[in-house]
Amino acid sequence: MMDILLLGSGGREHAIAAKIAESPQCGKLYIAPGNAGTSQCGENVALDNTDFEAIRKFVIEKRIGMVVVGPEAPLVAGLQDFFAQDEALKQVAFIGPSRQGAMLEGSKDFAKAFMQRHGIPTAAYRSFTQETLEEGIAFLHTLQPPYVLKADGLAAGKGVLILDRIEEAEQELREMLAHAKFGAASAKVVIEEFLKGIELSVFVLTDGEHYCILPSAKDYKRIGEGDTGLNTGGMGSVSPVPFADETFMRKVEERIVRPTVQGIQAEKMDYKGFVFLGLMNKGGDPYVIEYNVRMGDPETESVFPRINSDVVELFKQTWNGTLDQAELRINPQTAACVMMVAGGYPGSYAKGLPIQGVEQVSGSLVFHAGTKRNTEGQLLTNGGRVLCVTSFADSLEEALAKSYASVGNIHWQDCYYRRDIGKDLL
Ligand code: AMP
Ligand code: GLY
Repeated sequence: MMDILLLGSGGREHAIAAKIAESPQCGKLYIAPGNAGTSQCGENVALDNTDFEAIRKFVIEKRIGMVVVGPEAPLVAGLQDFFAQDEALKQVAFIGPSRQGAMLEGSKDFAKAFMQRHGIPTAAYRSFTQETLEEGIAFLHTLQPPYVLKADGLAAGKGVLILDRIEEAEQELREMLAHAKFGAASAKVVIEEFLKGIELSVFVLTDGEHYCILPSAKDYKRIGEGDTGLNTGGMGSVSPVPFADETFMRKVEERIVRPTVQGIQAEKMDYKGFVFLGLMNKGGDPYVIEYNVRMGDPETESVFPRINSDVVELFKQTWNGTLDQAELRINPQTAACVMMVAGGYPGSYAKGLPIQGVEQVSGSLVFHAGTKRNTEGQLLTNGGRVLCVTSFADSLEEALAKSYASVGNIHWQDCYYRRDIGKDLL
């Protein structure tokens, strides 16, 4: 038994917390800062994920044996390195890569060069800075539309532009490089070939040498039905992905997962954690669109409930470098998750609205994202993405029907959700 600290506050963290809490090896579970849902799995603590000293103090005081990191920001900021260099913390099992490993997500240019070094299939690209702006413009003219421009650094999911017209692409490149459109994140810009195909996410747990491939998932990023309108954090997900069959997944493992983990090992990255592969299936062949160094949200809300193995045991094996001995048991059923969001999201929206009906839901799992309770214990909205409803069934169609039936029981003023999650896969 050990006490565990999970960092993060979204639907992803609620889904991870629920699995950790199920483990017979989990003593006390703390979630920092958590939400109204995670407080049903453990104790929420008001710790700021960027305040490393406060995390240190808490871990020592509570004799925490394992830290699991949900979001990328503390990893990109070097939380793993902070633990590894501290006499009192280096014994604590830490699930998440070092700062160098986290650059696979934190720098698009670093990730592309890594893929090139290790022969991993991805879109052809070149990187440019303010000094090479004119070369960047010339490079754009050698490409076919649409044009893909990516700010090198973290830009809160807004740093990727896909443009149809060359004039727009030139203009945006100038804005990013000469006028810091995304601040320091766009001091460098990756321009890459557009890949036409269908996207999916594949999740890998690695101890830096061995790996374990978790279920695939597909998420729905746009706010509007039919994949229209603004980008969001994600409006729903399904797992598994029907087209990610055995043949396709074998290609993913041989061409992408294995060389990625070998690359991590060859470059001596201290990497014990998740690798999230954002993939494009182009005519049956997988290409990497991006790496993330954490689980996806809302993919986790359909992937984690399907894991029947003890996740604390998997995390211990990750930390000990014995993931080759892991026994991964997956529920063969399909999981479908529908995200319920605040009216107005991803633009401005109200917070603090009372939520009704969550207690009446049966036959589905409800994961909280942006929620809190007031002093009377009433459940209130507290973010753009508010609740995520996940259901299992033998078919995708049934799983979706169950989730939508449950969603129909939950209400708050101006709540919104997409009615077409998973429909493109039926
Ligand atoms: P990223 O932040 O790199 O995941 O990019 C955001 C989204 O832009 C992806 O989920 C894709 O839908 C799209 N995208 C990024 N790169 C490409 C590409 N090379 N070809 C086609 N679509 C892309
Ligand atoms: N659902 C995409 C992400 O978590 O980045």
